[in-house]
Amino acid sequence: MKLPVKHILACAALAFGATMAAHAQQIVIKFSHVVAHDTPKGKASEFFAKKAEELTKGKVKVEVYANSALYKDKEEMEALQLGSVQMLAPSLAKFGPLGAKEFEVFDLPYIFDNRDELHKITTGPVGAKLFTKLESRGIKGLAYWDNGFKVFSANKPLHAVADYKGLKYRIQSSKVIEEEIRALGGIPQVIAFGETYQALQTGVVDGTENPPSNFYTQKMHEVQKYLSLTNHGYLGYAVVVNKKFWDGLPADVRGQLEDAMRQATAYANQIAQDENDRALEEVRKSGKTEIYTPTPEERAALKKALIPCTRRWPAASARTSSRRSTRLRASIRPSSDPRSSSAADRHTASRRTFRALQFSGRASC
Ligand code: LMR
Repeated sequence: MKLPVKHILACAALAFGATMAAHAQQIVIKFSHVVAHDTPKGKASEFFAKKAEELTKGKVKVEVYANSALYKDKEEMEALQLGSVQMLAPSLAKFGPLGAKEFEVFDLPYIFDNRDELHKITTGPVGAKLFTKLESRGIKGLAYWDNGFKVFSANKPLHAVADYKGLKYRIQSSKVIEEEIRALGGIPQVIAFGETYQALQTGVVDGTENPPSNFYTQKMHEVQKYLSLTNHGYLGYAVVVNKKFWDGLPADVRGQLEDAMRQATAYANQIAQDENDRALEEVRKSGKTEIYTPTPEERAALKKALIPCTRRWPAASARTSSRRSTRLRASIRPSSDPRSSSAADRHTASRRTFRALQFSGRASC
């Protein structure tokens, strides 16, 4: 049967109109981050994008911009607050410059023995309380995603504590990490993640610290000859959204996105360890970076050297000498325990307090 041209045109116009209407209603979430696709965060953000579209039946489109394609570390926070992007997952070390110093507790060296300990904090009242600190800055916290434990690298072997001395290290924007490097006799330099490879290549800095997944996917093994499996601190993420945008979503869509985020979080935390193991294996296979496992004695010496930075934290917020910062220090800072005389005891006290915070639900930060 031959349809009249008028009829065909009318049908086409209707179909076009329906597509346009669907697009007009589509909610776009720009999700910006600084790491490669092939990392725990890269994969989890793409997983979230897929789930979000699936669960909202296409009402939401999540556009993931990886590898600092849109913004670098500092700019992405500003962009989120301005609403130029709707979602980020910065590392926990990057919330300090925003005024949320409490997040730097995650940077304290050797604060968690394993991921289970960490998850008790992030999924408990402390994790929830920390997120409330972001709300006055126009940001809402949705979830904590794992990366892993950090290793040190340089162009000279890092075995004894003395080996760290005098080197310049690229660090994230965290006062705790800054103290950590100073405690080792190094010179800390805050550099955006996306500029780290170049800074290492050109000798602006001599070394750095990151989990193996970030080290490998940024090709740092091409410009760092030695890597030491120190596992001295944790690096994880807070997935955050622009609060106004999030609160303005239709309730059903928000619920579906929360569900997608729950699934993405389980996925992120499930793959993180494997991604880091795989990356370390790739570094080993590259033959470009020598991987060293510190002896128990070297590990103990590094721990001892790093503990003073735990004692001083949070020096920056202490300057405000507000009741809030005093309470925070009293609850987490190990030196507040006068019975803890040795450095090792103080460190244990820190971990105990952190656990106590979680179990009592007394999130006093
Ligand atoms: C870094 O800047 O070293 C990391 O936080 C990057 C990231 O997001 O994992």
